[in-house]
Amino acid sequence: MSDRQWIMNHKRDPYVIRAQKEGFRSRASYKLIEIDDKYRLLRKGAVVLDLGAAPGGWSQVAAHRTGDSGLTVAVDLLAMDAIPGVRDIQVDFSQESALTAIADSLEGRELDVVLSDMAPNLSGMRDIDQPRSTYLVELAMDIADHRLRMGGGFVAKCFEGEGIDELRRSLRDRYDKVVNVKPKASRPKSREIYLIALGKRYATSF
Ligand SMILES: C[S@@+](CC[C@H](N)C(=O)[O-])C[C@H]1O[C@@H](n2cnc3c(N)ncnc32)[C@H](O)[C@@H]1O
Repeated sequence: MSDRQWIMNHKRDPYVIRAQKEGFRSRASYKLIEIDDKYRLLRKGAVVLDLGAAPGGWSQVAAHRTGDSGLTVAVDLLAMDAIPGVRDIQVDFSQESALTAIADSLEGRELDVVLSDMAPNLSGMRDIDQPRSTYLVELAMDIADHRLRMGGGFVAKCFEGEGIDELRRSLRDRYDKVVNVKPKASRPKSREIYLIALGKRYATSF
């Protein structure tokens, strides 16, 4: 598809139009809204980690749903405009320094929810993109192992393909329930799906 064609399709996309009307920064907001309407992760007062947060569509939803007593910590390689109720950190999540910055932002609070919409810069070559994407999910699972409270929830973007069955198995070892969701706002042609894990079985280990 040419760049021009992509821009035309983007402008006509109903979720892009709706996001502009409703004040969301990205069409991705509707994916999290659909997931949360069904699984009720973002309760009032919840502490949420939003990995791969820019430009902030998911953080807007998380901050709104968790309310004034909640806290959302948003992490991305890219800078993000401020959102009330969201502490944003511009850092590469694969670097050790990200963990320290997140711990500082949490000020000792446990996480109720870990969200990851992280995606690598896609090369278009499945052999390269698939392991990169899987690695980002593993990193998100790792922080959830250490900082997510017992009973907490986990959501991560993945791509159907090699490695995803292992991710599902690892999640089943750690959580009571694991499901796949392809939200309506996820482009049908994309191999993107979300793994949702509910009810972490063990406590945090800082
Ligand atoms: C699909 S976008 C996220 C959209 C966002 N959830 C929203 O609602 O606006 C994926 C994001 O993952 C980020 N990302 C990819 N690798 C990352 C890494 N190693 N550390 C932090 N962010 C990363 C990218 O910079 C990009 O902004």
